[in-house]
Amino acid sequence: MKSTDLISIHDLQRDEVLEILDLADRIKHDPRVHREALSRKTLAMIFEMPSLRTRVSFEAGMTQLGGLAICLGPPDISMGKRESVADVARTLSGMADGIMARTFSHQAIIDLARHASIPVINGLSDHLHPCQALADFLTIREVFGRCEGIKVAYVGDGNNVAHSLMYAGAKLGARVSIATPPDYAPDPTVVANARRDAGATGAIIETGHEVLAAVADADVVYTDTWASMGQEAEHEERVAVFRPYQVNAAVMARARKGAIFMHCLPAHRGEEVTDEVIESEASVVFRQAANRLHAQKAVLVILMGHRP
Ligand code: CP
Ligand code: NVA
Repeated sequence: MKSTDLISIHDLQRDEVLEILDLADRIKHDPRVHREALSRKTLAMIFEMPSLRTRVSFEAGMTQLGGLAICLGPPDISMGKRESVADVARTLSGMADGIMARTFSHQAIIDLARHASIPVINGLSDHLHPCQALADFLTIREVFGRCEGIKVAYVGDGNNVAHSLMYAGAKLGARVSIATPPDYAPDPTVVANARRDAGATGAIIETGHEVLAAVADADVVYTDTWASMGQEAEHEERVAVFRPYQVNAAVMARARKGAIFMHCLPAHRGEEVTDEVIESEASVVFRQAANRLHAQKAVLVILMGHRP
């Protein structure tokens, strides 16, 4: 892989995305593969927001690859307040072998990468969640045997998860159909970028506001929280707007027979998804969560494994 950071799947070549998924598959099926690949290497993890899956999968992943992860929460470094992003990046570059960062502002991740001399991995920003989308398409490929032509209907907020799903789907030849309330559509620049990538792979990127149009013939129905981290104050107002975008049994019934339900988690039962759907046989949410570990171990080996 030529890329030195994982900021956005849009920055990767299609072959690089496939390299990550293929290595993730190998590592998942034989965890002894690359068991010492990151021996004595250290990943510094910056968290400006809470996390269960991202923190545990990166930390467990580093341990399983023979290395170590250090978790830096808001009280530890207060990036941008106690010291600048550029100074954090340069300090960590002298001590660690990689940085994983979850920041409110996407610009902070870009700035970290600009000033660090070690790989930087985006562990979620207000704009993108690339590690999630890699695990999502790893899961989709496991279930359906391919990504090409698979219709992924995303229903809800046009947020970081939706953006990365479009970018990954575009690289992998999927059909990604997004249904959001009119005022919560995905970023038009992301849609345009994804459509440009789609031109090379046969992917289809669709956006609109009709839930039933998006889920018609879908192989995958995907949703995420209506109020992302940092938007807690808007929760009540968003619930009112998003109510018609709930994924419930009636919505799942309009998808293709054998369709699966996906969610990046954490889920808000009774809001974006009903308990009935997330607990149904169609739901693969915990397999999807577990695949964060395998997908990210592949990213860690590729970005950090072959450097002196
Ligand atoms: N899906 C996901 O990123 O979960 P966490 O916020 O718990 O890391
Ligand atoms: N869109 C959600 C994803 C959480 C993993 C958020 O940003 O809070």
